[in-house]
This record gives sequence, structure tokens and C-alpha cells, in this order.
Amino acid sequence: MALTTRRTFLLAISAFALASPLAAEGELSIHVVKDPGCPCCNAWIGYLRDNGFAVSFEERSIDDLAAFKRQQGIPDTLASCHTATIGRYTIEGHVPAADIRRLLAEAPDAIGLAVPGMPYGSPGMGPETERDAYDVILIGRDGTATVYSRYEAA
Ligand code: CU
Ligand code: CU
Repeated sequence: MALTTRRTFLLAISAFALASPLAAEGELSIHVVKDPGCPCCNAWIGYLRDNGFAVSFEERSIDDLAAFKRQQGIPDTLASCHTATIGRYTIEGHVPAADIRRLLAEAPDAIGLAVPGMPYGSPGMGPETERDAYDVILIGRDGTATVYSRYEAA
């Protein structure tokens, strides 16, 4: 009986740990690498914070940032301004929070997500109401690009 009680207690504790906000925040900790002269990167950081992410960031020279993108497996054709890491994934450019959450939930075997270039009206890139159409790309382990979600022009 003592053993059963203890086991029930431990199960209750682990259920609490899963449900606690601390555990959720840990999952949403994202680290952004950007170059110092990038206002839209700062806007994307602010957008993520508004959407419940804990954001840390560092600034690197353009060359070091380009090297970091290559090191993370981001093909040149899919590159944008900043490069972020969350868990085992890399997030390139102005990716919406909903797509990052979906990536974490689905946990595909992939490098991560990219919004290539800097489409007008993507998060941190001006008003959503004047948005140009853009795609969020899933980058496969081999660098292949698949459309993950599509945002129509506003
Ligand atoms: Cu940008
Ligand atoms: Cu940026």
C-alpha cells in the first residue's frame, strides 16, 4: 500500500510539472542571431514576445551571420535576415508564431522553417492588412524545400 501511495504521489507530481507554466515557457525559449543594423529583426523579436515566447538574442557581423546560416543548414535560396534556434530546430526569417508552435507540436525530422527574403506584411515586416502572399517553407534534413503553410495576400 505504501508503494502504491508513493507511486500515485509521483504521478501527481509529474502531471503538475507538465501542466506548470514553467515547463511551457521552457519549450518556447527561442534564441535569435541577427546583425546589429536590423530593425525588422527587432520587430520580429517583439512580435514573438507578444506571442508568449521567451526570446534571447545576439548580434553578429553579416559574414558571421552568413556562416551561422550555412552551419545550421539553411540553403542560400531560403535565406532571410535573422536566424533563430528553438529546441533542435532552426527558424530562418519572419516566420509566424503559429507555424513555430505547429513545428514543435508535429516534431518532424527536419532542419526547421524559413520565410525566404522578407515578404511585406509577414510578422515584423509591416501591417498584416497590407500583406503580400508568402509561403513558410519546411527545410528537410537534405536541404529540400516543402511548403509548410501559405499566407494569401491581404
Ligand atoms: Cu527582416
Ligand atoms: Cu530579421
